[in-house]
Amino acid sequence: MIWLIGNRGMLGSDVEVLLKRDYQPYIASDIDVDITDFKALRDFIARSDVSWIINCSAYTAVDNAEDERDKTFAINADGAHNIACVAAAAGAALVHVSTDYVFDGEKSEPYLEEDTPNPIGVYGLSKLAGERHVASAMGRYFIIRTAWLYGHRGNNFVRTMLRLFSERDEVRVVADQWGSPTFTKDLAAAIISIISGNSTRYGIYHFTNEGRTTWYDFAREIYTLARNYRRVDREVRIIPITTEEYPTKVKRPRNSYLSKDKIRRVMGIECRDWRDALEEYVREMTSHPPADFSPMPPNPPEGGLFGL
Ligand SMILES: NC(=O)c1ccc[n+]([C@@H]2O[C@H](COP(=O)([O-])OP(=O)(O)OC[C@H]3O[C@@H](n4cnc5c(N)ncnc54)[C@H](OP(=O)(O)O)[C@@H]3O)[C@@H](O)[C@H]2O)c1
Repeated sequence: MIWLIGNRGMLGSDVEVLLKRDYQPYIASDIDVDITDFKALRDFIARSDVSWIINCSAYTAVDNAEDERDKTFAINADGAHNIACVAAAAGAALVHVSTDYVFDGEKSEPYLEEDTPNPIGVYGLSKLAGERHVASAMGRYFIIRTAWLYGHRGNNFVRTMLRLFSERDEVRVVADQWGSPTFTKDLAAAIISIISGNSTRYGIYHFTNEGRTTWYDFAREIYTLARNYRRVDREVRIIPITTEEYPTKVKRPRNSYLSKDKIRRVMGIECRDWRDALEEYVREMTSHPPADFSPMPPNPPEGGLFGL
């Protein structure tokens, strides 16, 4: 039995789609079983014979985290610790999702799993603390660091851009931060592949879609696809700006590019190009949105023209 934690989030909902597709026996929880409440987790697992736990729950509001340090740490650090302790006690293996924000973004080369973390904000600090709690509480864990996620549920950069393209003649987007846009569907498939293969190659791995781009070029690609799929029928100027021209509460890593060599080599998991994944996403949004897609949110996400 698999226990999916965070099934109502952007990534968790795509993991659940695959669990259903594969007829995998699973149970799921979200905010209804608060991960900061150890007893609630223990009571929940006591009812089932769980051999794998997937943790997609987190506090993900990067800017708000600066003002909500205690809450952020309670969820991302203590919550992760609680889940790892419950997993260890149940003899279950854990897939725990983490982030590029554990790095400061100052490296010019792709980040490797063994590079020294150095978070530059509360969110990154809390996620790093969560990683360390997991690694100290149990041995059978997979920590998957990812970046720049978008999916069909919840708010994200792609949906914000699509909305802005329908409202504005000009959109200004940061062009000096680098990373890899990643479709939650692809990360969900990588997680399911680890579990289906009953892998025992525990440790930290990086997974994103392949290729390196900036928020500005990401926005331009979204615009091109939106025109091709007739989601936008007007001219919009996309203007490159610097990080300094778009101040936010928390600094973002300048380089978020994660090396995927390890997950390819050890797990045989491939990472498709981010442009191919994005095209599929826009096509799905346009042609056959599943019934449970959440509607386009009315307001920009926290942090405006950035992803997480
Ligand atoms: N989004 C990105 O760009 C990005 C980038 C790198 C890494 N990540 C990591 O990827 C993972 C998935 O991110 P996501 O964007 O899919 O997150 P998300 O959409 O914000 O989903 C997180 C889920 O966790 C739930 N949750 C929050 N506090 C909880 C608690 N105390 N107990 C139980 N559930 C709780 C949330 O419920 P509420 O909505 O009700 O709070 C939400 O349903 C996270 O570990 C995140 O750190 C994300």
